[in-house]
Amino acid sequence: MAPGFSVTRRRWSLAAVFLLLLFQAVCNAQLSETFYSASCPQALALVKAKVDEFITADRGIAGGFLRLHFHDCFVRGCDGSVLLDSTNKTAEKDSAPNLGSIRGLSQIDEVKAVLEAACPGVVSCADIITLVARDATVAIGGPNWSVPLGRRDGLVSSKDEALASLPSPSDNFGQLVRNFAGVGLSVQDLVVLTGGHTIGRSHCAPVLRRLYNFTGVFNSRDPSIDPTFANSLVLQCPQNKASNVIAMDTTNGTFDSVFFNDLLANRGVFTSDATLLSNPFSLAIVNASAQTPSFFLLNFAAAMVRMGNISVLTGSAGEVRRNCSRTNNI
Ligand code: HEM
Ligand SMILES: *[C@@H]1O[C@H](CO)[C@@H](O)[C@H](O)[C@H]1NC(C)=O
Ligand SMILES: *[C@@H]1O[C@H](CO)[C@@H](O)[C@H](O)[C@H]1NC(C)=O
Ligand SMILES: *[C@@H]1O[C@H](CO)[C@@H](O)[C@H](O)[C@H]1NC(C)=O
Ligand SMILES: *[C@@H]1O[C@H](CO)[C@@H](O)[C@H](O)[C@H]1NC(C)=O
Ligand SMILES: *[C@@H]1O[C@H](CO)[C@@H](O)[C@H](O)[C@H]1NC(C)=O
Ligand SMILES: *[C@@H]1O[C@H](CO)[C@@H](O)[C@H](O)[C@H]1NC(C)=O
Ligand SMILES: *[C@@H]1O[C@H](CO)[C@@H](O)[C@H](O)[C@H]1NC(C)=O
Repeated sequence: MAPGFSVTRRRWSLAAVFLLLLFQAVCNAQLSETFYSASCPQALALVKAKVDEFITADRGIAGGFLRLHFHDCFVRGCDGSVLLDSTNKTAEKDSAPNLGSIRGLSQIDEVKAVLEAACPGVVSCADIITLVARDATVAIGGPNWSVPLGRRDGLVSSKDEALASLPSPSDNFGQLVRNFAGVGLSVQDLVVLTGGHTIGRSHCAPVLRRLYNFTGVFNSRDPSIDPTFANSLVLQCPQNKASNVIAMDTTNGTFDSVFFNDLLANRGVFTSDATLLSNPFSLAIVNASAQTPSFFLLNFAAAMVRMGNISVLTGSAGEVRRNCSRTNNI
């Protein structure tokens, strides 16, 4: 073999390796815990300081932050699409699961303002939502985990997509399993992530049917609810008071495993909670979560990382919004 040929071949293989690496960087970019280490080293500390401030002012907002991340990720992936405004009421915010119940939007804007002042145009709104959900969980006694970063913000937000993609509180086990499988999450993820219902509050609207119209017959009640608990819900949620609020579990100000003890006592608030008792595999995970709090806390943290990885935009996809409520081009 001529020496020149071999040199050419080596050049070609070097070029091929380079192109492969470039291809991987552009098309297969993964999130990374150190994504902002060089571009905005103070980002994580700035987010945490703001979240601690919000929780001190209102412990309940932690629930709002956690749910916001869930609702972002389940619709078009974790791309900040839940934050976009529309002029014609067609954004995710305008859909029934979000309208009137989504919380934490003004606080996300405040965090964004702090980060834009420190590192303009660097930290995405999708990453802010993710960090805020983690910091809020930690601030009220929940587990900590390191957050993979580098999500970019999406350009589209659709009310119809939100309605189609978000699970309903009246869903049964099969519907929930299919919904979670559709975004790559397992039955165990479904159970431990539903454990997010250990904090915060619900309006009465999602429980009125269980209390007053379960079979479509006037005043029919879901017989699976513990009668004492059902009576207390009836007192808190009279038939005409859809906008009253109730606690998600008996210790709704603390991130603990008590939600699962309540659930085993038939004191889950929604059908989607109670239905986790209807399958032997999910019941075993409920049991383990109730009996061994660390099982729940560790698996919740791991499932949050998986949820935060749903269909993320990376590399040059999407953009880093300057204002979380609107895309940069308008
Ligand atoms: C499994 C399917 C799920 C359904 C059907 C569901 C449904 C709901 C509903 C109807 C509410 C009450 C909203 C209101 O009326 O104010 C709620 C609240 C909440 N959800 Fe879920 N959820 C599910 C899973 C999750 C997941 C995966 C998380 C997070 C890991 C989560 C976290 C929360 C939190 C923290 C609240 C309290 C919100 C607040 O205090 O403002 N949920 N959920
Ligand atoms: C707990 O639930 C009650 C409704 O019963 C609500 O007013 C309160 O804000 C909730 N607390 C927290 C910390 O979320
Ligand atoms: C609503 O506005 C968006 C742009 O903001 C547009 O893409 C969409 O087609 C509009 N939808 C309707 C139903 O007018
Ligand atoms: C949470 O974990 C991250 C990553 O390991 C760490 O940097 C951070 O200091 C932890 N937060 C708290 C409050 O311990
Ligand atoms: C009760 O439920 C049935 C369907 O099961 C529905 O058609 C009816 O409108 C509901 N009634 C009330 C008062 O919500
Ligand atoms: C859950 O635990 C209870 C006792 O606490 C037991 O009776 C039941 O069989 C367990 N179920 C599963 C599926 O592990
Ligand atoms: C995140 O998603 C990517 C692409 O689907 C996958 O390769 C990676 O293993 C996922 N990471 C985690 C922590 O789930
Ligand atoms: C962000 O955009 C919204 C409109 O969607 C506007 O009301 C708000 O003032 C803007 N915020 C900043 C800081 O410019």
